[in-house]
Amino acid sequence: MTSVASGLSQRLARRLAPRGIIFDLDGVLCFTDRFHYEAWLDCAREVEAPFDWTINDRLRGVSRMESLEIILEGSPHDYSDAEKERLATEKNERYRALLAQMTPEDMDPAARAMLRGLREAGFKLAVGSSSKNAPYILERLQATDLFDAVIDGSQIERSKPDPEVFLRAADALGLEPGECLVVEDAVAGLEAARAGGMACVGVGRGAWPLHCAPDARVEDVSELASLLERPGSPAAPEAEIPGGRTWWKEAVVYQIYPRSFYDANGDGIGDLRGIIAKLDYLSALGVDVVWLNPIYRSPGVDNGYDISDYRSILDTFGTMDDFDELLAALHARGMRLVMDLVVNHTSDQHPWFIASKQNPAGEFRDFYIWRDPAPDGGAPNNWGSCFGGSAWTFDEASGQYYLHLFTPEQPDLNWENPRVRDEVFDMMDFWFKKGIDGFRMDVISLISKAGFEDGPVRADGLWGDYEPQCANGPRVHEYLHEMHERVLTHYDDMTVGENAAVTPELACLYAGFDREELDMAFQFELMDVDGGESRKWTRDWDWSLADIKRVMTRWQETLEGRAWNALFWGNHDQPRVVSRFGDTSTDARRKLSAKMLATCLYLMQGTPYIFQGDEIAMTNCVFTGIDEIDDVHTRNAFAELMEAGLVEPDEMMEIINYRSREHARTPMPWSAETNGGFTEGTPWHALNPNYDKINVEESLADADSVFHYYRRLIAVRRAHEVLVYGRYRLIASTDEHVYAYERLLGGTRALIACNFGGEAVAFDLPEDWTGARTILANYGNRGDGELRPFEALVLICEDERKE
Ligand code: NOJ
Repeated sequence: MTSVASGLSQRLARRLAPRGIIFDLDGVLCFTDRFHYEAWLDCAREVEAPFDWTINDRLRGVSRMESLEIILEGSPHDYSDAEKERLATEKNERYRALLAQMTPEDMDPAARAMLRGLREAGFKLAVGSSSKNAPYILERLQATDLFDAVIDGSQIERSKPDPEVFLRAADALGLEPGECLVVEDAVAGLEAARAGGMACVGVGRGAWPLHCAPDARVEDVSELASLLERPGSPAAPEAEIPGGRTWWKEAVVYQIYPRSFYDANGDGIGDLRGIIAKLDYLSALGVDVVWLNPIYRSPGVDNGYDISDYRSILDTFGTMDDFDELLAALHARGMRLVMDLVVNHTSDQHPWFIASKQNPAGEFRDFYIWRDPAPDGGAPNNWGSCFGGSAWTFDEASGQYYLHLFTPEQPDLNWENPRVRDEVFDMMDFWFKKGIDGFRMDVISLISKAGFEDGPVRADGLWGDYEPQCANGPRVHEYLHEMHERVLTHYDDMTVGENAAVTPELACLYAGFDREELDMAFQFELMDVDGGESRKWTRDWDWSLADIKRVMTRWQETLEGRAWNALFWGNHDQPRVVSRFGDTSTDARRKLSAKMLATCLYLMQGTPYIFQGDEIAMTNCVFTGIDEIDDVHTRNAFAELMEAGLVEPDEMMEIINYRSREHARTPMPWSAETNGGFTEGTPWHALNPNYDKINVEESLADADSVFHYYRRLIAVRRAHEVLVYGRYRLIASTDEHVYAYERLLGGTRALIACNFGGEAVAFDLPEDWTGARTILANYGNRGDGELRPFEALVLICEDERKE
């Protein structure tokens, strides 16, 4: 169903299938910046101007006279044109003299090996540099022979960002520009690649502006081969992958809650055109798949999880044309779209339910679950709905009750009825034919009901629990297999089930590689380590790292070789992860702990799911009264528990401030402007008041922000196959503060070490890790014998370990 030809990462394969690769030289293949720095420093001293690395960064990719003007901005003196010419020439002579110190060691052996490997794999290689010194540098590096062509500053009239140098390089390779990939570290170079119509990979940690965001990023140029040629390149020998390589295993998913993402038409509610407007942002982050919460026509009792027409777009979100445009725009960027499939229930305004209710003898009656009253005239059993009150609502006209596991406006479909299944499968086909790439399946483990007996009374003492008879029911696998046979098998799609009450063993049934049901299952055991599922409306929310390790290790180990994990810290039903498992007491701790949490989870085996706003470490709000809450679940729980006298209002607000899903639903802050730049109108929901500090604009501008860390994390995962497919192995299992694990694939191993605590803790790297390369670090470097507060480290080692 989902194999990807040639094993290339699908996102890259769509945009980056080059025949030729053109490398910038300085900052990409060698580090000559330090010579420029020294030479400019001498010049700055002479003209009595300040100089540091920040000024030096502004000189990258800029012509020599423009660079001089930047230096002279800080000089108290005026210089004639002739003097400027002298200064620039002297700088160049000084630079040349420094270049003479270069030796072949100035080129990373891994980069050299990668270039050889790429040539052996059939790529044509060129250097495209605006510097006239390029041939000399290559000579010093003894690297000239590695390239089929070298275009330098003496052969061009206009330097970058003009594309001339790259166009000439493509020509020298005998290729069209569109067949070439540019590898660059500077903004001017990325702009030149874009202007020349070439795909590009950005090297390094730069905070590149969106208009020239590269198609992919690597921390180090030696990682390029693993982006282009996996498996099978000399740099990345093929390893056995249970269940095979697929695009959705390699992908990173970004979840959008459309109401709160971005409002393009000023009505205060996020919409599809708002999403289109922000696609470059997602592309810059590097995600591969967008999952949209429901956008179908709906009365909105449960914000879209009550669908009245599965084939129309809710007016507030836009039109079907907007949807088609969004899908095309995503695909054009090499991204995919996953829709929410809500088929355990519909809205009570769906024509099927209207007909079902109106005509007990009609063909639609059996689309839903109707039962006679209990002998006492009450509901057929004691089940409570997930959102408060009984799970049954009485219909006076017919004298029967209908089942709704959620609100009364969300009646449960009767999956026993083959016509219901026909309709659902037809509707799925409709969306696949439009070109979507998959479905996230809402509460899919509830679709088959085992029976309708009373359930055990829940902890709150108010209602019976429906789960034992509704979750993972007797026919659920049969239904999903049928769905696979009739629909999924015909498309190159991904599916992820929202599986309430699923264990790792059950997940191997829902999503086992050999099962032909779903691709992944969301599990909720991680969300329950602080009682988020089982003790939802209580103050009993202590959690321990030991529990997180226990849950995640069990999932990683049980699914290994059998099924694939879905990794998430939050979604639209959960509070904000950094407020829950991180530390928001200071800005620095918020950022460090958010980066650490992402590192810890997203580098396990499985597909990462990022919930909108987590990439800028959005936090929970402080709600002061129930009137500030929109969510039907939270409001109903408040009313019900209050009426039963089970909690006091203040206590309930405290619980809501820790646990409610309302926190996930506040609008995205795009800037510090009014309403966070989310809308020009009045937002449907108040923003978190901290939007003046926590917003996208701030995060994009700060090279050390959570956003840029997420971007690097995604790039690092993409560049190292071991981080996607490697086997998980817990280490330091009893450490109370550190979560450390290894990933192992063929001869490559990675180590991930995360300090969950706010104090520094002693942590010695295991002996065979001390010489390993650091590929990601939320402090930017590696401490010695300790992990600092909320520190996260990722190391990689390519030597064969003796096990
Ligand atoms: C799970 C969804 O994630 C949640 O938001 C919704 O309220 C329920 N299912 C009911 O559809």
